Amino acid sequence: MALWGGRFTQGPAESVAILSRSVHFDWVLAPYDIRVNIAHVRGLAQAGILNDDDAQKISIALVALGEEIAAGTFGPIASDEDVHSAIERGLVGKLGDLGGAFRAGRSRNDLVVTDFKLYLIDHMIEIGAALTLLVEEFTTKADEYKDAIAPGFTHLQHAQPINFGHELAKHSQALLRDLSRIRDWLARNSVSPLGAGALAGSALQPHPENSAHELGFSTAHQNSIDAVSDRDFVAEALFIMANIGVHLSRIGEEYTLWSTSEFGWAKLDDAFSTGSSIMPQKKNPDIAELARGKSGRLIGNLTSVLAMLKGLPFAYNRDLQEDKEPTFDSVTTLLTILPALTGMVESTSFDRLRMAEGAVKGHALATEIADFLARQGVPFAHAHEISGKCVQRAESLGKEVHELSDEELLSVDARLGSEIRQTLSAVGGVASRTSLGGTSTQSIIKQIHDLNSRNQLFIEYFDSKRSDFLEMIHI
Ligand code: ARG
Repeated sequence: MALWGGRFTQGPAESVAILSRSVHFDWVLAPYDIRVNIAHVRGLAQAGILNDDDAQKISIALVALGEEIAAGTFGPIASDEDVHSAIERGLVGKLGDLGGAFRAGRSRNDLVVTDFKLYLIDHMIEIGAALTLLVEEFTTKADEYKDAIAPGFTHLQHAQPINFGHELAKHSQALLRDLSRIRDWLARNSVSPLGAGALAGSALQPHPENSAHELGFSTAHQNSIDAVSDRDFVAEALFIMANIGVHLSRIGEEYTLWSTSEFGWAKLDDAFSTGSSIMPQKKNPDIAELARGKSGRLIGNLTSVLAMLKGLPFAYNRDLQEDKEPTFDSVTTLLTILPALTGMVESTSFDRLRMAEGAVKGHALATEIADFLARQGVPFAHAHEISGKCVQRAESLGKEVHELSDEELLSVDARLGSEIRQTLSAVGGVASRTSLGGTSTQSIIKQIHDLNSRNQLFIEYFDSKRSDFLEMIHI
């Protein structure tokens, strides 16, 4: 159903209708469109544009249409341009002429951006809640492996031994930053565009703040042109989702690596790995790889919206219709990866012995020698030099640096007495790193406590956002 035929002598060419059409993807906005229209109709009644009786009839018809949409008994047809035209067709079908009265004082320009914002608010809350589950799993695993010694890498080369729980807890830290980005996003974008009309505001509905509050926004827009042209909230949400994707891809990379026979650290659960159609022995980390691979789309979706926005005149332009598909794709992609990855993290176990064996390889305890000397007052640059000499000596003898005998250490430097043995072991080295945020078990226990309480606050926050949203949408 066309919403704009009056000044035209003929309908659009078939090719134009095909190009214009968005209902095949924007239909997901239907529940939000119904809700926004109800708020709009109330505003018209308050302003005396619709009498109470008509407003009541339209609202009841909108609710009924919403139920039919949810039940799948009302849907778009070939002649509908977009979700808004399909819903108006439904309303006219129920109410005749009165069905066309409700769009006084609003345009699809303010409608679509309000619908889309509600859609994103709804789904950013869902993504936030799903992310807290992943944080919970990482933190639980971190606790389980808080005293499991493992090699720590820089440049993917053995660097220093660490507790494996520390390695896992770092993911909770990164994901908690993503959660705080979602919380900030929700606060910053709680501004309603409804009432902006096409661009100039509404002559018929003087109080957009009423519908703003009804729809759960903190405030209404202050500039109607900005309200219909702003898609910062879309780009920002896409960045948050892309950044989560980058984190998930790095997690995916680690699990892929850890489950190779060369590493042999991670044992993936059967339910969270896949086989090969030709090689019967194979157990592949496909979930980790898909998490890694799908993050590419999340970055692409952000890039495509930014490129679409660049250079656009600051008001509504039809280009803006292109904001939706990438966003829907990012939301669906993320909500598909998260539960699978969470299950994988929960069900993966790690081989403590194998990790501990590798922890001292590659002269990984050389820093312990330098730290030991520094504690005795040797300037670090010099201590570093001496430790390097020890590595050289060990290499010439075909040993690891911690395997040097007391005599061999003393022959490099007289200050390398036998007390060095307290920290010249993976366990000793790790235990000595008691700094805040360090890898000692003692520091990890504090970290886990903090992670759990921060995550708990997010769980409660998203829970309450969810119930507020549901209360608003199901009137
Ligand atoms: N389907 C359109 C969109 O997503 C709705 C707004 C159409 N507005 C217009 N002036 N043609 O942006």
